[in-house]
Amino acid sequence: MKQQLEAIRRNALDAISGAETSGELDALRVRYLGKKGELTAVLKQMGKLSAEERPVIGQLANEVRSILEASIEERGKLLKEKAMEQKLLAETVDVTIPGTQPKIGKKHPMYQVLDEIKDIFIGMGFEILEDREVELAEYNFTKLNVEEGHPAREWSDTFYFTEDSSILLRTQTSPMQIHAMETKSLPIRILAPGRVYRKDEVDATHSPMFHQIEGMAIDKNITMADLKGTLNEVVQQLYGKGTVTRFRPHHFPFTEPSCEMDIQCHKCRGAGCPTCKGEGWIEVLGAGMIHPKVLEGCGIDPTVYSGWAFGMGLERMALGHFKISDLRLIFENDVRFLEQF
Ligand code: PHE
Repeated sequence: MKQQLEAIRRNALDAISGAETSGELDALRVRYLGKKGELTAVLKQMGKLSAEERPVIGQLANEVRSILEASIEERGKLLKEKAMEQKLLAETVDVTIPGTQPKIGKKHPMYQVLDEIKDIFIGMGFEILEDREVELAEYNFTKLNVEEGHPAREWSDTFYFTEDSSILLRTQTSPMQIHAMETKSLPIRILAPGRVYRKDEVDATHSPMFHQIEGMAIDKNITMADLKGTLNEVVQQLYGKGTVTRFRPHHFPFTEPSCEMDIQCHKCRGAGCPTCKGEGWIEVLGAGMIHPKVLEGCGIDPTVYSGWAFGMGLERMALGHFKISDLRLIFENDVRFLEQF
């Protein structure tokens, strides 16, 4: 029996050290130490032994059992560590492999220009107002001194919603002047950018939808000099020192006197080229001193207060900013164009 036990010890230890998985190890535990295992089988024959032999073999059997148990446990630990190592190896991520860059969108270039313009005006104490695009004709025209029957109210130029021509898509941001005067307390300094709509065919300089930025300042003693000073400062900040502007007399029903402002062409520096249609100048806005009738209509006393207003074409400003000559590039959303800015 002693030899039997020695043989079990030898074979079992060999098998345990050769086990490669915890499954194999479990099978060995059952085979040698289980209820029907080899060691148990030997112990079952203890009855046949003499009284002197019994404790000796018993002790040896216990020794073999604890040696095998310890060895199984040790091997088990080792296999677990190995398995973990392998798992880590298999799950390794090579952080040096170049990844796939997610495409991140960005603001449309024209809105980048708008942000710059807003920042400049905010720096001068103006408040940004963004509001409705669907307007009452009363605000788009009547309160701006454009009476019924005026050619600017023609169906051929304006998108109306109703037969009676009372509701429309605003043709200009100027109704924001009225909204500001009706809701704000004096003095007022606002900048109101947004979309406007006119029945125009698309070409290099026209689109049925475009953007305007309305600006307005009302206080005591405001003059045309404040208007020119403000606009010149904005143009210098936007296009750089030394950018030349020019103010020409014009007519708008809601300003008196009225003017238009041109910026010297960014492409030809005034010499004349296709971008400025040979003029050397690009018209960017209409402006003027707010008509006393308009102030009065909003409950502001024109003998005490005065103010200026302008309506700037954002697309025109963006063309100058990016030195491009076709308005359609701004609306076509071709990423090859947009990505450049
Ligand atoms: N609303 C005018 C236009 O669209 C521009 C303008 C705004 C003129 C404010 C004077 C004052 O042409």
